Amino acid sequence: MTSSAVAASFRCLACGAGAPLTQTASECAACGGLLEVHADLRAWGRSGAEWRDLFDRRRAALPSAATPPFTQSGVWRFREHVLPDLPEAEIVSKPEGATRLYPGRALGEELGLSRLFVKHEGENPTLSFKDRGMTAGVSWARHLGIRDVACASTGDTSAALAAYAAEVPGMRAIVLLPHAKITDEQLSQALHYGATTLALDTDFDGCMRIVTDLTRVRPIYLLNSKNSVRIEGQKTIGWEAVQDLGWEVPDWFVVPVGNAGNVSAIGKGLREWLDLGVIGKAPRIAGIQAEAADPFYRSFERGFRERVTRVAGETAASAIRIGAPVSHPKAEREIRFFNGVVARVSEEELLDAAALANRHGLAICPNSAVALAGAAKLRREGAIRKDETVVVVATAHALKFASTAAAYHRSGARLANPPRRLPAALDAVLEALRV
Ligand code: F0G
Repeated sequence: MTSSAVAASFRCLACGAGAPLTQTASECAACGGLLEVHADLRAWGRSGAEWRDLFDRRRAALPSAATPPFTQSGVWRFREHVLPDLPEAEIVSKPEGATRLYPGRALGEELGLSRLFVKHEGENPTLSFKDRGMTAGVSWARHLGIRDVACASTGDTSAALAAYAAEVPGMRAIVLLPHAKITDEQLSQALHYGATTLALDTDFDGCMRIVTDLTRVRPIYLLNSKNSVRIEGQKTIGWEAVQDLGWEVPDWFVVPVGNAGNVSAIGKGLREWLDLGVIGKAPRIAGIQAEAADPFYRSFERGFRERVTRVAGETAASAIRIGAPVSHPKAEREIRFFNGVVARVSEEELLDAAALANRHGLAICPNSAVALAGAAKLRREGAIRKDETVVVVATAHALKFASTAAAYHRSGARLANPPRRLPAALDAVLEALRV
């Protein structure tokens, strides 16, 4: 790869100005717009079938003591399409990705979807999809010789940043978190991995503004998904799901939306593969939000004539409690291109969907459940048909939100399965099992 003829560079989404990928600022120097990584992937000179064959061979390859971790990664399996000019020796991989695609048969039956699949990104090393973007971002930071890296986070980006930075000697992770608005399970990850952890008396959007300013006044590299190098790693969720399906493109990807990086990434990746002929058809994309944090939905409702922002309210889907999605312009483009829709779900819908998925053995978090509840809603409304192939992207593991689940089951909620406290006596246990 080091001698690759294909080089990537930044291009501004707003004004089209170019910049080298070695630029550390995540905004366009000319207009302040969002940057995007651009690489002429056709210059590799391979056909769609040749790419599919290469990726299948890599997927089947078994690990050995001699092979570096990235050879087992579901991100670097596609390395020519991720960061073509990153030297392999710089890759920081745990390895991530290669998550399972679960056929949700019984679950789908309950929701009226006969071909439902759940791509379980909670099976990543830090239990969320953020590892895919972070392996790209931290590898690139290491390649650039950067010491300090930072992000604002609702809990999962910070866990991933802390975990990947911990692999690089001398690299310091700085994370800005909204105080008391993320779970202890998420917080414990940043602390355990040794990140400098700053809990600010504000919400995520406030943390995002401050970390952006911080990286302007100090030589600190921003590793939020506003840094589009991260988006390049996250593209692989969609690619992997298509490969998992034996190169069948699903009819729908259903994705929870917070900062809107994931919709942007999945869309960008699939557009690139359409262009290369790796896939021959476009899926549709549905972005789903929680009612309490629904700015992207409100923008969609207005035909994207207006970019709505709001103060995000409290939601059990705390990882997507975001009022001003940073990647809105990119996600809007993907929703338009893929003939997509944006929907929103209530607290009751998302909590019940989480309980339902878990009862069927899928340990997904409330944010993932937003997508599942959204798929069910779109099915009820007729936007998704019963026999369509639907891939729901479950973005993190249930155990990152253990206290939310415990509270649900202790409440009178529809699918609550509360624990019962008993005296330590066989009689009491037998009595309890009678009904
Ligand atoms: N699901 C989970 C579990 C998340 O942690 C996030 C985002 C999303 C969905 C939404 O993805 O932002 O790309 O639309 N979490 C970020 C964080 C904001 O800081 O961990 P998105």
